[in-house]
Amino acid sequence: MKVELEKKFRELFDKDSEHVFFCPGRVNLIGEHIDYNGGKVMPCAISLGTYLAVAKNNDKIFRFRCLNFPEIADLHLQTSYSKNGKGWFNYPLGVINELISGDNDLSGLDMLFYGNLPIAAGLSSSASIEVLTTFALQTIFHLGISNKDAALLSQKVENEFIGVNCGIMDQFAVAMGKANNAILLNCDTIEYEYLPFDTGEYILAIINSNKQRSLSESKYNERFAECRASLKCLQKELIADHLCDIDTKSFESHRYLINNALLEKRASHVISENERVNEAKEVLPTGNLNRFGELMYASHQSLKELYEVSGKELDTIVDFCKTYKGCIGARMTGAGFGGCAIALVKKDQFDDFSQKLTTYYQNKIGYEPGVFASAVGDGVRSL
Ligand code: GLA
Repeated sequence: MKVELEKKFRELFDKDSEHVFFCPGRVNLIGEHIDYNGGKVMPCAISLGTYLAVAKNNDKIFRFRCLNFPEIADLHLQTSYSKNGKGWFNYPLGVINELISGDNDLSGLDMLFYGNLPIAAGLSSSASIEVLTTFALQTIFHLGISNKDAALLSQKVENEFIGVNCGIMDQFAVAMGKANNAILLNCDTIEYEYLPFDTGEYILAIINSNKQRSLSESKYNERFAECRASLKCLQKELIADHLCDIDTKSFESHRYLINNALLEKRASHVISENERVNEAKEVLPTGNLNRFGELMYASHQSLKELYEVSGKELDTIVDFCKTYKGCIGARMTGAGFGGCAIALVKKDQFDDFSQKLTTYYQNKIGYEPGVFASAVGDGVRSL
């Protein structure tokens, strides 16, 4: 891909690029919708992602081009920017806006992006392009930003410039990913550790429901607000900064404080999901993938019934997985409302699994899913 992108860059800008960078997407193994509730999550970076070929220019212009989208933007260097419609370039623009408002000495850039992640499929294409741009600018202008800080800065861009109240998980996973390891991240303290993720005789399958979702227009911000509201009720008697500070036992004896069935369900998901991550953390290093798989199924059930972010497409995938002998666990991954599911499937049955799932899904939903096997890869890097 690097060589092809360099060639396209030359054709477009009539000069050579100076760098090519890559940032992956991610899947979350377990710990869904709890990063913005101070919980622990367990994502890993995947092999698909976003590329950027870039060179400085002396024109004081940021030129945004992308092989995936026809829209382009040429913006003069100025002290701040605001979101410009719904264009893809708002993600890198938000990063530039954040970096330009500091004391950083930036110059114009010619940028050509390309992504092989399915867009708006819940694999963090937005975090990928944000962290990619932060990493690129840090490298080109020597800004002294660590990968961890690149993740935090990118999350700020998503929250304030793009307007989605996301947690830190996606940006952290794509910035800090490590091949063959899951990341156990405490989203309250930002402490993390790598957990070797050896899938043994299984393979990590990613199943794209091909139902597009748009995070900023989705119910995501609504869930965020519901969690804040339920926490407020519980804080009448419990000392907790986040929902995930509360354990199941205290929740059970205080859930009456919420006095709203919907908010109670939301809190119940968050608190039980955090405990599933705690168990998953113990189980994963022992290689007990069967138990890990059961936790994945339980997580999905909770997201479906209590948090209500799944949908018939993702449920159809997980329902099929439960009936397939060579599959030991599956769940939706990411924000939900469409997007992708993940599953642990016996390596030597993957082709059969993929075929049968495709037929089953096509019959129920009316179009095909995308099924692929994924490696667990490294985070953002120069190529
Ligand atoms: C999206 C957000 C993340 C996280 C997940 C749900 O991917 O960007 O911060 O909240 O949804 O776990």
